[in-house]
Amino acid sequence: MTYTTFEARPLSGALGAEIHGADLKAHGNTRMWDELQQALLEFKVIAVRGQNLLPAEQRDAAAHFGKPSHYPFAQGLPDIPEMTLVVKEAQDRRNFGNGWHSDTPYLAEPPAITTLYAVETPPRGGDTLFTNTQMAYEELSTGLRRMIDGVSGVFSASLKYRPGGNRQEHHAKITSMPVTNTDSADRYVSRHPIVRTHPQTGAKALYCSLTHTLHLDEMTERESQPLIKMLYEHASTPEFTCRVRWEPGQMTFWDNRCTMHNAVNDYHGARREMRRLTVRPEKPV
Ligand SMILES: [Fe+2]
Repeated sequence: MTYTTFEARPLSGALGAEIHGADLKAHGNTRMWDELQQALLEFKVIAVRGQNLLPAEQRDAAAHFGKPSHYPFAQGLPDIPEMTLVVKEAQDRRNFGNGWHSDTPYLAEPPAITTLYAVETPPRGGDTLFTNTQMAYEELSTGLRRMIDGVSGVFSASLKYRPGGNRQEHHAKITSMPVTNTDSADRYVSRHPIVRTHPQTGAKALYCSLTHTLHLDEMTERESQPLIKMLYEHASTPEFTCRVRWEPGQMTFWDNRCTMHNAVNDYHGARREMRRLTVRPEKPV
């Protein structure tokens, strides 16, 4: 598709585009907002470069994509409680968002869209990887697709299988973020289909990860883990991915219904500060 209000430069064969020439403060430019919605559907991840947004301006831009969703494990900004800072200080070793995942699938209505705005970026590194889970689903054999269609998974915030320990241990090591509420992580559990259908495109996508999917419905953890692990590894096949580089003033939007992402922790010694706001809570179907 061609866009008339900005330039979209694809990031890989699978997904992702950099958007140049858009102005996220131009709320009256309905054609641009329609095209941004189209570009997000086409590319699944759009990195809008060259912005200069205060927190309220990020909120107003994100509002074109849906109403805000609350993140349960970080304290929000005083006047915008749904917006959280994602900070790694120069002395920190752990980062936030490491490991392939879709955002907060343990909620009953996970946010369809995440927005992340770069305030400060390291001189190199700190990229975010994305993978196209629609493509990952479509590249499975017909036999396996038939087997997993209609299967649900149990999604938990406890990060039970995560390398480095559970959510509480992991967050305790992230010292520069006001991480809260981690002792209640076990209470955030939801059941969703592991193959979900995108409500706007009708396309199916894998919705399953070692980071959050504890087990498949009516199966034990021991029975489920090999399949979850295989689907997780399959979903991160290089041909399904792209890599988003950041610069200050960049706002990236991604569709959690058909992607996963992984924040690369390769910039020890440098500071990175982002603002995160998720929108459009929606029950996966
Ligand atoms: Fe994330």
